[in-house]
Amino acid sequence: MQERRLTTASKRILVAGGAGFIGSHLCDHLMAMGHKVVCIDNLQTGRKENIRAHIGAERFRFVDADICDPLEIEEPVDEVYNLACAASPPSYQADPVHTMMTCVAGTLNLLQLAERHGARFLQASTSEIYGDPEEHPQREDYLGNVNCTGPRACYDEGKRAAEALCYDMLRAHRVDVRVARIFNTYGPRMRPDDGRIVSNLIVQSLSGEALTIYGSGEQTRSFCYVSDLVRGLVALMDVEETPDGPVNLGNPGEFTVNRLASLVLRQIGVSRPVRHLPLPLDDPRRRRPHIVRAEQLLDWAPVVPLEEGLKPTIQWFRQVLGEMTKVDRARPPHLVVPTATVTAQGAT
Ligand SMILES: NC(=O)c1ccc[n+]([C@@H]2O[C@H](COP(=O)([O-])OP(=O)(O)OC[C@H]3O[C@@H](n4cnc5c(N)ncnc54)[C@H](O)[C@@H]3O)[C@@H](O)[C@H]2O)c1
Repeated sequence: MQERRLTTASKRILVAGGAGFIGSHLCDHLMAMGHKVVCIDNLQTGRKENIRAHIGAERFRFVDADICDPLEIEEPVDEVYNLACAASPPSYQADPVHTMMTCVAGTLNLLQLAERHGARFLQASTSEIYGDPEEHPQREDYLGNVNCTGPRACYDEGKRAAEALCYDMLRAHRVDVRVARIFNTYGPRMRPDDGRIVSNLIVQSLSGEALTIYGSGEQTRSFCYVSDLVRGLVALMDVEETPDGPVNLGNPGEFTVNRLASLVLRQIGVSRPVRHLPLPLDDPRRRRPHIVRAEQLLDWAPVVPLEEGLKPTIQWFRQVLGEMTKVDRARPPHLVVPTATVTAQGAT
């Protein structure tokens, strides 16, 4: 492993997937800290609009590239965050082979880039590593219950393979690796068509549609506001001693889907009928992170309660839907609001 080149407080940081929902908030944070940021993204689910504030800034560079292709960056790099991967079930299932290749070939390309630069590496992994868990809450040492042949496997198994690659590189002393297992995260810049539960329920409530709830709605999820998550990712990258294994990052507050739906309706001030659809294959029944490792290693805990985080999130969707109505009543394809065609309200 090369020695890290950290001579000044300002670091040179590569964010793969930086034009996406979480990645763009991470870019905002790193830019606000005075770092130089190279954002790599193929814009598959991300949008340049998300990083518009930084385009043209001297400390920021956007590279339109797919991490599955060989990568080189001319400037020195101190840190690599790998967030590149479609995260919502409809997006990652649209081209499952590409999703798997993004996780495996793409992660390997970025790990090798980090090795060449002597950069520290953070992998955005997922609670999907635990599959439909038989242990609750999910601790990092739980090995998971994942179907390796189902429609979610391209993502779940892809992310598991990516973690394996990360720890192979770490054990070989080739790259200093940190792995964050991210639980459901929400906030502004989620796409209205991304098919995840928070966006589905808000968009349907605002659009006057019936709420789609899969199964009874008694399955649970834990929701982390995006600013809390970004703080956790940066703390994990910054911690000097390499953690001995992955670290869960999420909010341990546990809500049923029915409870989330009531909160959304109450905050928007409307009532809507509910349409129940069958639970998608391999949809997890319960999700709650055990976050003691993050608390102890990183001195990190989420601070934004769901009721608070929903406010700016609903505001964001109001704005996006308002702009869609004004600009294009025909609804452009990248902003099609899902109804019954959504395949899963996945917890990623
Ligand atoms: N949002 C969540 O709740 C959540 C939960 C667990 C894990 N994660 C992980 O966090 C990361 C970011 O998730 P998000 O919610 O911001 O999703 P997102 O889809 O908004 O962001 C992913 C970004 O990666 C880009 N991308 C995808 N494949 C790429 C490729 N091959 N090459 C280059 N760029 C590529 C997309 O264009 C997008 O900008 C993902 O790796 C995801 O697996 C997210």
